[in-house]
Amino acid sequence: MQKYKINTYGCQMNVHESEKIAGILSELGYVETNDDAEANIIVFNTCCIRDNAERRIGGNIGALKPMKLERKGDMLIAVVGCMTQQEGSAKALKSKFPFIDIILGANNLQDLKPAILNLKKSYINVPQIEKPEIREDIPILRTGYPNAWINIMYGCNNFCTYCIVPYVRGRERSRKKSDIIDDVKRVLDEGYKEITLLGQNVDSYGSDLESGRFSDILSEIAKMEGKFRLRFMTSHPKDFNNEVIDIIASCDNICNNIHLPVQSGSSKVLRDMNRRYDREKYLNIISDIRSKIPDCGITSDIMVGFPTETDEDFQDTVSLVEQVRYSNAFTFVYSPRKGTPAARMVQLPEEVKKARITKLVDLQNKISKEISDEYIGKIKEILVEDVNPRYDSSVCGRTSCGRLVTVKGDPSMIGKFYDVEITSSRSASLFGEIRGTK
Ligand code: SAH
Ligand code: SF4
Ligand code: F3S
Repeated sequence: MQKYKINTYGCQMNVHESEKIAGILSELGYVETNDDAEANIIVFNTCCIRDNAERRIGGNIGALKPMKLERKGDMLIAVVGCMTQQEGSAKALKSKFPFIDIILGANNLQDLKPAILNLKKSYINVPQIEKPEIREDIPILRTGYPNAWINIMYGCNNFCTYCIVPYVRGRERSRKKSDIIDDVKRVLDEGYKEITLLGQNVDSYGSDLESGRFSDILSEIAKMEGKFRLRFMTSHPKDFNNEVIDIIASCDNICNNIHLPVQSGSSKVLRDMNRRYDREKYLNIISDIRSKIPDCGITSDIMVGFPTETDEDFQDTVSLVEQVRYSNAFTFVYSPRKGTPAARMVQLPEEVKKARITKLVDLQNKISKEISDEYIGKIKEILVEDVNPRYDSSVCGRTSCGRLVTVKGDPSMIGKFYDVEITSSRSASLFGEIRGTK
């Protein structure tokens, strides 16, 4: 029996795309393994959002060299995804790691099948197409039960000045509403309990179609029969609208959880980033959300060290974080990406970036812990998602607002809803005891 291993890096898009890679490989008769030594193909599904992601991937590919030299054709190595899509990257990868067998881009996963079937010396195909076609024929082997990821769109048109995604993923393309709805019906029929709609900017869904907007999709799915949860990511403050807030507020099955990346609290930096909203507009959205969905978990991506960020701009980020009180935030140090406008600006010294990220992380940890403590004594519904290997006989699930809760239990609980009394907290996670089953 032929076996595959997939190493996934990057965002949820990539996690879902690895399910498509698994779909293609299982159609070819491969089964999954976690062990390099028994894998007949190892696929690296790569990310290039920051320099450290790329360096880690390079290190991991390089580490396979001795095994590859020994096993030769018995262990194929394929590199796919965003990293290969950068200008000159496929060539550079092949010359640094000549033992790679297959290199594909981020938008032509379907070529993995012909690549394997027709492999001679090596197969390299990274098309540079502005608007690649949407492929609806790629099989999916879902690995995230009870959650099913569903793309509603691909690519990005926003060209934030720091970001590589529009260059490697191409222009925005929305899937047809009927294809999305069919997928949702199918996974609900299969017993999935949580749907997460994916797009780099879900609020601009449909702008390239004749009809269909994001709010239509949300309300149509929310009306479907059965007990399940609906999530989505990522929202962009420039396009986020009150209609979406109203739909979340009025539908019980849409989670009270909005990921609304701010990036910076300084209007000047936001302008330099080409984010097309300012601090005031962002804070207005937050107060609209809070007034209509009082217990909404709002999360964010925040960056420090953008080239034009002064101490004062950074203070604006600190004060925004203090004001918004995110339930959780992903914090990043700006990393120059070749070919993007910000990479051509004068860069800040490393020590300035380091001092800022430390301060920001400490602040967000403090806020996350304070928010966690507010849950103690409350009863919340969770959907159990997985075992929690860090604790004996424990499983974990999330509240509607997106907070992780660990309770005593076993794998038979995965995919079920429970009412849980929160008894203690640690940073952003909670611990509780089951009080009822749904
Ligand atoms: N489409 C989403 C985010 C996609 S990338 C959005 O617009 O919010 C995820 C996060 O990575 C971004 O929100 C940003 O905070 C971070 N990021 C993107 N480019 C980066 C860079 N060059 N350096 C550091 N962080 C970056
Ligand atoms: Fe990158 Fe901006 Fe597009 Fe998000 S919206 S993927 S940060 S260019
Ligand atoms: Fe995602 Fe990384 Fe690509 S964040 S879209 S996998 S560059």
